Amino acid sequence: MVSLFKKVIPIQGKYLKPFSAKVASITSNREIFCIDCFAGAARYEDEKEGSPLMLATLSDACSQWQVPVTFKIINVEPNLENFLSLESETQSWIQKGIVTNINKKFNEAVPEILSKIGNAPALFFIDPFGPTSVYFSHLLPILRRSQSATELIVNFDTDGLQRIADATQSKSDNPKTVKAISTNIQNVTEIIGRSDWLTKYQSANFSTQDKQKFLLSLYIENLMKFGYAVATYAIREALGKATKYHLIYCTRHNDGIFLMNDFIFEEENSMLSDHFENRMTLFPTSFDDENENRRKELSLLVQSFLKENTKTTRKQIKHNLIFEHFAQFHSKDYRTVVQELIASEKLHASHGKKRINDDESLTYSG
Ligand SMILES: C[S@@+](CC[C@H](N)C(=O)[O-])C[C@H]1O[C@@H](n2cnc3c(N)ncnc32)[C@H](O)[C@@H]1O
Repeated sequence: MVSLFKKVIPIQGKYLKPFSAKVASITSNREIFCIDCFAGAARYEDEKEGSPLMLATLSDACSQWQVPVTFKIINVEPNLENFLSLESETQSWIQKGIVTNINKKFNEAVPEILSKIGNAPALFFIDPFGPTSVYFSHLLPILRRSQSATELIVNFDTDGLQRIADATQSKSDNPKTVKAISTNIQNVTEIIGRSDWLTKYQSANFSTQDKQKFLLSLYIENLMKFGYAVATYAIREALGKATKYHLIYCTRHNDGIFLMNDFIFEEENSMLSDHFENRMTLFPTSFDDENENRRKELSLLVQSFLKENTKTTRKQIKHNLIFEHFAQFHSKDYRTVVQELIASEKLHASHGKKRINDDESLTYSG
């Protein structure tokens, strides 16, 4: 279980530096917030640092920048034992006014969080055990913030949610079972924030994977209604292992999606590289072959987009492909593929030069 969280945290840590630098520049006081809504004890039993300490260290780094950022952290943890550990581990940052810890459940803490952060840019990190402690209604006040620099990273237990949904499918007249079914239906509905999942779930002949995809897609659709671009990444312990969680990233800015795409790609690529190094791979190809195949695949996708959109820019190409193929291709791959199409004279830049930037207007001649 823990190792999955360890996979999420480095991604979040890497992402947070450019996020902080960028969003601080739109404020007058260079103050931004990260809210660790399911903070934990700040240190794992094996003594490794949990997310609150990782964030506090990051805050120290931001304060040392040439143009410093005040990176404030609010941690939420209802379990008293964890909370006391959290308080003691973050003591020095509490004294500096950087960390505030709230000893409540996330949903009960939302009003206090929102009043503390005011209209400041904020990133909410939502990392619960299982799917049932975050109802969609808990997120509404956050999703409705007028501050456009509001982002969410949710560690979403797709596997757990599908198990609850499956438990609604048994047939029984036993009053206890009937009650349990009704509770499970209610739970799924509250988590994804809509009730229209049930009929299709009952009638469609879904595989386990399809069921998870279906529930996840309804959840994403709901998040998007609030003006967010939403990208998801399947978290696995290693290549070839089943997906248990999805990292769901919500932003209102395209640049955020591009940044997160690259960081997650790098994580995925290092998993692939480990696989080859450990000779555990079942793939008949080498790491370099994988890289080449990936670029060929992207080139085909880009060309099929270009056939429908003969006048475009590199940014538009990326934006059109990045959601469906999140973290499958790095920005460098997009650059290389577009450059190759220009070199082979299938694509032409308006200024006639070979080197282009993201917004250069491009024409496809096939
Ligand atoms: C997965 S752990 C968090 C790990 C932490 N993010 C890290 O990376 O170190 C989930 C934490 O959420 C806490 N928790 C349980 N129910 C909660 C709720 N309703 N609101 C907020 N936190 C809750 C648990 O006590 C537990 O410490």
